Amino acid sequence: AKDPVRVLVTGAAGQIGYALVPMIARGVMLGPDQPVILHMLDIPPAAESLNGVKMELVDAAFPLLKGVVATTDVVEACTGVNIAVMVGGFPRKEGMERKDVMTKNVSIYKSQASALEKHAAANCKVLVVANPANTNALILKEFAPSIPEKNISCLTRLDHNRALGQISERLNIQVSDVKNVIIWGNHSSTQYPDVNHATVGEKPVRELIADDAWLNGEFITTVQQRGAAIIKARKLSSALSAASAACDHIRDWVLGTPQGTWVSMGVYSDGSYNVPAGLIYSFPVTCANGEWTIVQGLPIDEFSRKKLDLTAEELSEEKALAYSCLN
Ligand code: NAI
Repeated sequence: AKDPVRVLVTGAAGQIGYALVPMIARGVMLGPDQPVILHMLDIPPAAESLNGVKMELVDAAFPLLKGVVATTDVVEACTGVNIAVMVGGFPRKEGMERKDVMTKNVSIYKSQASALEKHAAANCKVLVVANPANTNALILKEFAPSIPEKNISCLTRLDHNRALGQISERLNIQVSDVKNVIIWGNHSSTQYPDVNHATVGEKPVRELIADDAWLNGEFITTVQQRGAAIIKARKLSSALSAASAACDHIRDWVLGTPQGTWVSMGVYSDGSYNVPAGLIYSFPVTCANGEWTIVQGLPIDEFSRKKLDLTAEELSEEKALAYSCLN
């Protein structure tokens, strides 16, 4: 039997946490033959609720779940973890300035970076879900200099999956038949959902849909605004789809992407596609042997170029804002 993998979920008493921990315990993230030990962190006001989640995990009697650590102590939470899914953060509340929210999250991610650096297992893989996801991941990277930058990522897989969903609905086909959409840039409304390289079977999505006005207009805004549409409908933000996307992200990273298929991940830019180096930016990636590689050489048309640049500009501004909050 395999040794258990320790998976940290921060913000585990929250909405996404409640959807995510049972998925992990059922093998959705790491596979049906991989035992797991869950580490769940939240803050003291949520401690009682976190303990309730732990009780339910026990009650669910998951065969793969070999242990549960539920704690408000960051060091205890981070100790020995192989995978860290960072869902905890400070939400923007009505009337709050962007800078105030950024200050709170910068301080959370700075201290959690140190705890992970000191106490996580060597080669721990980190996925930041909490918003602003790209910039929180960048702060985590900056304050955990001994964690290789290859091991730090943020979630744009939900946006990627939303794009697949919109295409499959439009063509009235199975979502699993659509592949190779791309989410470029920030996990925000400036992201660029790109279908120029997407296919169904061997056929380009652009030819099959044959409606450039829709693909360059409503499709893009629908994906960009989907989070807001869910909040309007549910009065709560996306949770089951975010949890499912987090599992997809880690599964593909650890177990590899299928031959001929790429996915979107927010990763540290090396300057590929003229995206400024030093931003956490969503790119098309393939994964093998536990490592992602940015897909190279895709032609970028003028329409796309502008959109790649626009979302990069927003990320540069967020980075500057985050740094100004450090002082
Ligand atoms: P939530 O508010 O239900 O849960 C967040 C949890 O984090 C709470 O239990 C809170 O107590 C905890 N928390 C706060 N500060 C913490 C800290 N310092 N350490 C540990 N835990 C802490 O929020 P929800 O709906 O679960 O969303 C979580 C985050 O994920 C939000 O930032 C949200 O914007 C983001 N999100 C990102 C998506 C993506 O695709 N990247 C999609 C959907 C949500």
